[in-house]
Amino acid sequence: MRRLFLIILVLVLSSVINLVAQEQVTDKPNQLVIITNNAGPVISKDIYGHFSEHLGSCIYGGIWVGKDSKIPNTEGIRNDVVSALREIKIPNLRWPGGCFADTYHWKDGIGPQEERASIINTHWGGVTEDNSFGTHEFMKLIELLDCDAYICGNVGSGTVKEMAEWVEYLTSDSDSPMTRLRKKNGREDPWKVRYFGIGNENWGCGGNMTADFYSDIMRQYSTYLRNFVGNRLYKIACGATNYDFEWTETLMKEPKNRNMFQGLSLHYYSVPGGWGDKNSATDFTEEDWFETFRLNYEMDRIIEGHKAIMDRYDPRNTKGIVIDEWGNWFEVEPGTNPGFLYQQNSLRDAITAAIHFNIFNHHADRVKVANLAQTVNVLQAVILTKDDKMVLTPTYHVFRMFKVHQDARLLNTDLVCEDYVMGDRSIPAISASASMDQEGKVHISLANLNPDKEITLTCPLIGGNYNSVSGEVLTAGKMNAYNSFDNPEVVKPTDFKKFKYKDGTLTVTMPPKSVIILELK
Ligand code: AHR
Repeated sequence: MRRLFLIILVLVLSSVINLVAQEQVTDKPNQLVIITNNAGPVISKDIYGHFSEHLGSCIYGGIWVGKDSKIPNTEGIRNDVVSALREIKIPNLRWPGGCFADTYHWKDGIGPQEERASIINTHWGGVTEDNSFGTHEFMKLIELLDCDAYICGNVGSGTVKEMAEWVEYLTSDSDSPMTRLRKKNGREDPWKVRYFGIGNENWGCGGNMTADFYSDIMRQYSTYLRNFVGNRLYKIACGATNYDFEWTETLMKEPKNRNMFQGLSLHYYSVPGGWGDKNSATDFTEEDWFETFRLNYEMDRIIEGHKAIMDRYDPRNTKGIVIDEWGNWFEVEPGTNPGFLYQQNSLRDAITAAIHFNIFNHHADRVKVANLAQTVNVLQAVILTKDDKMVLTPTYHVFRMFKVHQDARLLNTDLVCEDYVMGDRSIPAISASASMDQEGKVHISLANLNPDKEITLTCPLIGGNYNSVSGEVLTAGKMNAYNSFDNPEVVKPTDFKKFKYKDGTLTVTMPPKSVIILELK
């Protein structure tokens, strides 16, 4: 009898201990410590960059409508889209691709419109490309947006001569056949071009090359891309996709590559369901929601992996990682051309953007440029258009909220938070980063991934005292809430007041499924 009693007592005690232990695991404190008096590297404004390809209606219809269009435009470029992009302080725009770049011959897109060659856009829908949007139109767009140009050259089907001449046409002020041609086409002065890509995805659509082969011809191309007086190119070599660390190793280890490029690109898309069974952009389950963010968080591991290789060969950090394609890739909207990659954009995409930006901010020492795929009407677009109508997507609003991080200095933070659990998988429920701008204002960007749970986050701010706090929040009633042409303001930021700042500690009550930006000054 006594023995039985002892056994029961041990069993009861051990389950109580287990329960307490589980409590400790699931009930972590949710704390973000922020050190404000020892700011780190500058967060390059260019990680908030964009990408517009000749694909579907990104350029044609989305940006370019032609001078004779009834849609209000400046020299053929939509005014509404330009002012929306200026509002988010677009820092740079990548063009003309993507896969399209390695099929693009720039001379097809200059000179009188009626004389321009029509070609087939073999990558994207097999449609006719009339080349009405070419070099002059793109550089006009850059001028209207007041941002830097990022032009991607053709390695896959082009020549060294063709690429060298494009740079000369764009940026030289000397007398030469190319500059005379530019002047004949109506542009007297050279333009400034900051970023120049030496091919795109040359391991795949850009020529199916091996890393060794690309490494060799990249040097050949780069040699002839001149820095003409008054312009300095930041040359971007084609880098890896996802976890292809071998590609990075090959490009970095070759001593002759040392001065041939300043940036190495990296592409990573989150494709929940995989390529064969992609998610719908708006009709998805909570499992899909979770899986999307789990894949988004992988961006951190991927950067870490490539960075570790770069650190070995470039310990002085002279070469940047250029994540010139990222975002969620879902199934196209029903009834649309599969080659046009047109997808809606929901609150899920907004949280995706917040996760990515917080990751990029944390890697500010190495990640120098990033470009969301893509700007208008393609993949995780910030803008959707239909004829003369324009809708700003939830992703757009995150770009606007997070623009305060551009060129600010990263603050050291330490986040401890509870997990968001799905079955046997878990991810951090909170994504966060903080920066200090040139006026000393602190900005904290947060996302609560849990769709059902409000989370209270305590943020001790070490090293500074602030007089006022303000904030904005982006959330909605449903995980799949989105903005449509009939209902364009379902997901939009509102003032946020659920915080307290006392004795140097900010306590924030984050609504479920939300993105928050806070400013302390
Ligand atoms: O962004 C769409 C396509 O995805 C790009 O053209 C290509 O570079 C990538 O595979």
